[in-house]
Amino acid sequence: MTQTKTELLKKIEAREAVIAVIGIGYVGLPLAVEFGKQGYRVIGVDVDARKVERINQGVSYIPDIATAEIAELVGKGLLSATSDYSVLHDVDAISICVPTPLRKTKDPDMSYIIAAADEITKHSRAGQLIVLESTTYPGTTDELIVPRLAGNGLKVGEDVFICFSPERIDPGNPIYGVRNTPKVIGGVTPACVEVAEALYSKPIERVILVSSTRAAEMVKLLENTFRSVNIGMVNEMAVMCDKLDVNVWEVIEAASTKPFGFMTFFPGPGLGGHCIPIDPLYLSWKLKALNYTARFIELASEVNSNMPLYVINKVMEALNEVRQTVNGAAILVLGVAYKRDIDDLRESPALDIIQLLQERGGVVSYHDKYVTTLHHEGIDLASVDLTAEALKAADCVVIVTDHTHIDYGFVADNARIVVDTRNALKNVEDPACTVVLL
Ligand SMILES: NC(=O)c1ccc[n+]([C@@H]2O[C@H](COP(=O)([O-])OP(=O)(O)OC[C@H]3O[C@@H](n4cnc5c(N)ncnc54)[C@H](O)[C@@H]3O)[C@@H](O)[C@H]2O)c1
Repeated sequence: MTQTKTELLKKIEAREAVIAVIGIGYVGLPLAVEFGKQGYRVIGVDVDARKVERINQGVSYIPDIATAEIAELVGKGLLSATSDYSVLHDVDAISICVPTPLRKTKDPDMSYIIAAADEITKHSRAGQLIVLESTTYPGTTDELIVPRLAGNGLKVGEDVFICFSPERIDPGNPIYGVRNTPKVIGGVTPACVEVAEALYSKPIERVILVSSTRAAEMVKLLENTFRSVNIGMVNEMAVMCDKLDVNVWEVIEAASTKPFGFMTFFPGPGLGGHCIPIDPLYLSWKLKALNYTARFIELASEVNSNMPLYVINKVMEALNEVRQTVNGAAILVLGVAYKRDIDDLRESPALDIIQLLQERGGVVSYHDKYVTTLHHEGIDLASVDLTAEALKAADCVVIVTDHTHIDYGFVADNARIVVDTRNALKNVEDPACTVVLL
């Protein structure tokens, strides 16, 4: 079965196009659900058999997506999942949402994109739209996706339509989801963009077209580098304020009253998640090959990755004040997910903080209702209940992630020392414990 661009566009308009989403994780599943809600039949393709099974049972595994939503779409026959790539032959559009992590050497790990692209190449046919959504370095679509399909005898822009459209999902964000977050699309040819715009403008309120896949790839890296550099700057501001004996949180709050020319960023225990600590390094890696050093990116990465050690110093100083050492101290870490109100542990600074405390002889426990057990490179812990006894038993409590459901007044009432990396106790009047801010 092959089809022309006109036939593909007709199917998209009639909601008869079938869509495959490769990689149904934090990014792919919400996208698949939005397409399903628009009446398209969507097939999630994932190598993780547990995810495939859960989707087919109508069960969600992503906190932002309710099981009821999955169950409804599965019940209507609009959503299913499989690990069998051969389904790709019969679909009209393919969105690629596989991971793009770093290798141990901090170089991009392109193996997931390459594996997906190889499978698409094996099963593709004329008349399909292929959109890469995974965050990656500028040039990826042109260098890794286009040559494979062109090698299949398909002419890009005539037989097959290839675009890059960066995913912008913000897990845990109650206001912005797939539907109301504008989506940028860059295509290999104008015909490619035309097809992608037709499809993506159904589930997404606003699509923004740019002139090339490289421009679209760079948009995402600008967005995430912007965050990484600004967080690095404000983290260094926290270190400088500390040396000057100034409260950085007070300074930020006052500065943020300026109605123009200032954007608020907060310091913290370090970067986390699958995006901000990683994506800028995709850009600096690419630039290294062009003999250029991306100085802002590298500096921000250095400052941000030193923050866990800075937190450890705060814990050591706080314990020192009461003639205690980290060695042998009971330390309760509050919140281990990389940001508030989500369950994602990837690159979480809590992992570094716990490891550094354990290496120094700290007896570490943690509480996080979203992460019930923690097994990571030598850390084997289970979340403890947040009781008055647990708080009282701790020589030091370290707030790493400020989940909103926690009663911070209760924490302050029962803890002795709190190292508060998020200013979570800001609304607690006259805390009974010693509070150490970043
Ligand atoms: N999580 C976010 O907040 C976020 C936001 C914007 C962009 N992104 C980008 O989106 C991409 C995906 O991130 P994520 O957070 O959804 O990752 P994830 O790990 O939650 O999901 C990726 C899925 O891809 C599957 N997978 C891996 N290799 C595969 C293959 N060869 N074939 C089929 N499935 C495969 C995995 O099993 C997993 O289910 C990354 O490039 C990331 O940088 C993530």
